[in-house]
This record gives sequence, structure tokens and C-alpha cells, in this order.
Amino acid sequence: MKIVILGSGNGSNAEAILRSAAEGQLDNTSIVGVFSDVEESKILIHSKKYNVPARFLFPGGKNSIIMQEEENYWINELKVLKPDLIVLAGFMRILSKKFLEAFNYRVINLHPSLLPSFPGLNSIEQAFNKKVKITGCTVHWVNVDIDDGEIIAQAPVRIMTDDVLELVKQKVQAAEHMLLPWVIRDLANGTISFPE
Ligand code: GAR
Repeated sequence: MKIVILGSGNGSNAEAILRSAAEGQLDNTSIVGVFSDVEESKILIHSKKYNVPARFLFPGGKNSIIMQEEENYWINELKVLKPDLIVLAGFMRILSKKFLEAFNYRVINLHPSLLPSFPGLNSIEQAFNKKVKITGCTVHWVNVDIDDGEIIAQAPVRIMTDDVLELVKQKVQAAEHMLLPWVIRDLANGTISFPE
């Protein structure tokens, strides 16, 4: 299974995938490329450490989407690598129908809450401020609606009464670092099926 990872930020989840692969925990999987819409994203540094080709691709302006002209370029650059799966690991732009169709909707996203609770941005803060007692993270198939696709897997995280926000963020991230490689492993070994 050839994987392309897209990310915009710290890249800790991309690093968790790269580490799992390097440790031999992701059989039949090869990470063929990592791309970011943010030139200074740490995801590019992590990937190079693992000798995985990593590049910034210009997304066309400060928007929450990839602009139309640039989108063709993104699609072409990714298609060359013939990915079986695209993993959004902290990728902060919304993908269009055209993009998703170009890859047969074989795109998964990691989200830092138990969807359908707290979609959108700042989900950990939203859960913390609501004083929920259990939050977590979700991996789901991506469709054209934000954080709305079919849920593949979730991991729960307890919020204790004396937890501060920073601790909850760390707990959610730790859960993410386990969940995302597990989902990739199970997609590669057929335990989880791809969409028709
Ligand atoms: C992760 O917590 C991920 O769930 C979140 O961004 C973070 C990226 O961290 N994604 C979203 O909020 C997507 N809507 P990382 O760059 O350290 O992997």
C-alpha cells in the first residue's frame, strides 16, 4: 500500500507513522511522499529524517482550501506517486470534490475529538470548555463535508477534573500517535476495507 501524507503543522502524527514504518510495524506499506501547504512545517523535517521525499507545495494564498489553479498541480504531483491512500495528518485545508475524486476518495483524516462531537477547529479546547469527561480522537474517510465522512476508528481519552488544557492536548496527541498507525496497518492488511 503506497501512502502519501499531507500535513500543515508540527508533524508529530506523520512522525508516528514514519516511526512505526521504520520499526517494521507497518507491513506491506510504503510511505512514498509527504507534502505540506506550509513551507516551514516541521512535517517536512521529520520526513527527511526518515529519508522520505518531502516537499512544500504552494496552495495559493491564505485560504482554507487549495486554490483552483494550484489544485491541478497538487493532483498531478501526487498522482505521479500512484498512492493507494492519502493520509491527512494535521492538514488544515479542505479538499475539493475534484481532488477527492482524483484519488477515488481513498483519503483518511485524523481529527482530535470523538466525532461527531466537536468538528471544525480547536476541537480539544471545545471539549475541554464544555467540561466533557471523555474526549479522544477519530480517523475517518474524507468526503466533501468537513469532518463528516464515515468513521473508521476512535480512541477515547478521559478528562479528569483537575486536568489543565495542556495535559488534555498531550493525552489526545498520545492517543492519536497510536490510533493513526493502527488504522494504516489494518488498511494494509485488509482488516479495514477501502470504500467501494
Ligand atoms: C492533530 O491533533 C490532528 O488531530 C489535528 O491537527 C493536529 C496535528 O498535529 N487535525 C485537525 O485539527 C484537522 N481538522 P501534528 O501536526 O503534530 O500531527
